[in-house]
Amino acid sequence: MSQSVVSHSAGLGLVDAHGRVADDLRISLTERCNLRCTYCMPAEGLPLAPDDALMTREEIVRLATLAVRDLGVRSIRLTGGEPLLRRDLVEIVAELAPLDVDLSLTTNAVGLASRAQALADAGLERINISLDTLNPTHAQLLSRRSLLPRVLEGIDAAEAAGLTPIKINAVLMPGINDGDDAVELLEWCLGRDFELRFIEQMPLDADRTWDHSTFVTAAKVRELLEDRGVELRPHPAPRDGAPAERFDVFATDGTRRGTIGIIASISEPFCADCRRTRLTAEGTVRHCLFARTETDLLGPLRDGADDAQIAELWRAAMWGKPAAHGIDASFVAPERSMSQIGG
Ligand code: 5AD
Ligand code: SF4
Repeated sequence: MSQSVVSHSAGLGLVDAHGRVADDLRISLTERCNLRCTYCMPAEGLPLAPDDALMTREEIVRLATLAVRDLGVRSIRLTGGEPLLRRDLVEIVAELAPLDVDLSLTTNAVGLASRAQALADAGLERINISLDTLNPTHAQLLSRRSLLPRVLEGIDAAEAAGLTPIKINAVLMPGINDGDDAVELLEWCLGRDFELRFIEQMPLDADRTWDHSTFVTAAKVRELLEDRGVELRPHPAPRDGAPAERFDVFATDGTRRGTIGIIASISEPFCADCRRTRLTAEGTVRHCLFARTETDLLGPLRDGADDAQIAELWRAAMWGKPAAHGIDASFVAPERSMSQIGG
């Protein structure tokens, strides 16, 4: 085959040079957060972009609309930082809900109790909630705040509002919640019919404390559950590019108790099947969580670019997505931490 120079394909969706198509959009609504999870933020917080550098509701809706209409996006997840800290979150959801997409939200659930019903009424379909442990002392250690009761109230409200199926995201940190806590959380999720997903800690913490040799790998998660008598069997449905590898949990009498997911971004990367494109709260496109470059859309948008020009910039940004993140012991972390990128 001749080595012709290929350029990104105008008029199509978000295709990259390795043949992947990104149809799953994550939009970060804010960099702010009311927790300080050690694997994400430093204790003192991070410098914040000025408010006028963040996308307004109208700008978010415009970019999301063109992504769905012109770029083939089929699912949108709102993230942060903590999206509940956007005062206009319910309005944003209401304006995105009419788009032909699967709309969901990732939140730490602090403050969700008072807004879950309004979010559901505005058209939010599903919710993912970050909860690493049910042990209040460990929750305080991990998030540097004593807000576990408010998180639990938020989860109750989400369930009552029908924001289901609820998924719970847990990051296991060595020596804190990678033992009894993990099993307790699993039992609690099974009892409430929530899908628990263990997410490998990624090197995206602002403190740069991630350690390739000690982070809790997917293999360790499976081992720690199985050592404590939890029987896991691969979930029968095809994975279909999803980040989580799913397992069914069985009781000793052979009945299926529920499903969990393990997201092994580092130890068993799924880059070849990645379908994600990301917008930071400042309106830049990232083709990968671990990308070291970004493409500004908000600047051109404010300078009067039309939808076709924005779509072209977005396509060009995604075309350069690398085949894989290549994280190993010598990995150099991106400048932005998780709260600044949008999980
Ligand atoms: N590694 C893995 N997951 C992380 N999250 C935040 N920082 C990290 C990290 N360094 C998770 C949060 C949340 C989701 C948006 O991202 O727990 O569930
Ligand atoms: Fe906040 Fe989520 Fe980061 Fe924790 S992981 S500090 S909840 S943005």
